[in-house]
Amino acid sequence: MAVSYASCRTYAVVFVVLGVVLRGTLAEICSDATNVCHNYDSVSNDKLQSQVQKELQASYMYQSYSYFFGRSDIALPGISKFFARESLEERSHADNLIEYINKRGGRIAFKDIKICKLISGNVTATKLKHGLLAFQDALALEKIVSQSLEGIIAEDDFQLNHFIENEYLDEQVDTIKILGDYVRQLEMFSDDQYTLGQYIFDKNLLKSLKHGKDKEDMTKQY
Ligand SMILES: [Fe+2]
Repeated sequence: MAVSYASCRTYAVVFVVLGVVLRGTLAEICSDATNVCHNYDSVSNDKLQSQVQKELQASYMYQSYSYFFGRSDIALPGISKFFARESLEERSHADNLIEYINKRGGRIAFKDIKICKLISGNVTATKLKHGLLAFQDALALEKIVSQSLEGIIAEDDFQLNHFIENEYLDEQVDTIKILGDYVRQLEMFSDDQYTLGQYIFDKNLLKSLKHGKDKEDMTKQY
């Protein structure tokens, strides 16, 4: 469907007006002495809101992977369980951010959760090396999430910086290391050995997850 220049301009005006209204709302909240809002601006609020979206998107993506690897024609329960756990973890990251926005007196508008384009279509039943593809995608996604978190750091909001650095950045480094290790371990199997290698990898992963080992121990096991 062709979209005219005039209609594009109308949409642009609507978005600008909407942005001004939303920013105005936050400014009003922060200027209200009875509100908890202190040294917290609309730029930080927008970045945190966008991060909530990314965490929920990652959770949704990992949930779809968990389902995929749990299918009887794929049957890799270790990888399925791993992504199920990661999905819940990403959801908890989003919850934590939402709680923080409330603590700072900010506002959040919930939007549709779209499937991540980076991953969509990459891992399918018709492709071999499902596990390797999934971990490669997850690694790429976590790097994007890390970059986004680093972008939240504000020049003069020390509390926000402390929150992001302490509760998010360290964990991102650990997650990226683990995913990178998994990618490398699966890459080591040649094409004719890959299916057996992935089966053994999956069994070991399931075992360590069942024993409730934390991520650090899981990395050390291999
Ligand atoms: Fe996360």
